[in-house]
Amino acid sequence: MLNMAILISGRGSNMHAILSSHAQSELRNIQPCVVISNNKDALGLKIAKEQFGIATEVILSNGKKGWEYDKEIASVLKNYCIYPSNGIICLAGYMRILSSQFVRQYKLRILNIHPSLLPSFKGLHAQKQAFDYGVKISGCTVHFIDDNVDTGPIIIQESVPIYDSDTEEDLSNRILQLEHKLYPLAIKLFSEGKLRLEGRKVYLVEK
Ligand code: GRF
Repeated sequence: MLNMAILISGRGSNMHAILSSHAQSELRNIQPCVVISNNKDALGLKIAKEQFGIATEVILSNGKKGWEYDKEIASVLKNYCIYPSNGIICLAGYMRILSSQFVRQYKLRILNIHPSLLPSFKGLHAQKQAFDYGVKISGCTVHFIDDNVDTGPIIIQESVPIYDSDTEEDLSNRILQLEHKLYPLAIKLFSEGKLRLEGRKVYLVEK
């Protein structure tokens, strides 16, 4: 059994998808323990607590940067028995960059979802970047976190078409629907030990 924390900063729709998937018994090897946010007004906190009965914690930065802040997260994780040996940490719209100390501690146990086909359109506003660039296909990527932003080994990615009639909002919504499907699937594969890393390539192992 893996103990899971979800880190959010905002509306929490990916968090919702993960917790729904767990509630529907699709993530049998996962125990969601806590949702942590750096933003006390994150809508997802209310959803976690009221809809799913999951504990929530707010850790305000108060100007703290890097490991100085992240060590508070590490300490909360330990309070919930989420250790590098049994933990999974899912970033779901979490708007801070994790320090390398934190990433090293939870090496290959931190997952993120990004709304583009990485390595294209890293960073903020990926959907707008793709839309403005004029690509005909975009999508989303679930990847492990490494020391840089949006560069970690890719677990799974899927594409969506971009139509001439689309607005940026249409594209964002189409990608988001896919995110809600892909993130729980990646977590499931991870929790079932079906991912094997070689170099920076993640292979699916059939068990
Ligand atoms: C999603 O588009 C996700 O890919 C990105 O941030 C957004 C978070 O949305 N990392 P939500 O809070 O999960 O609704």
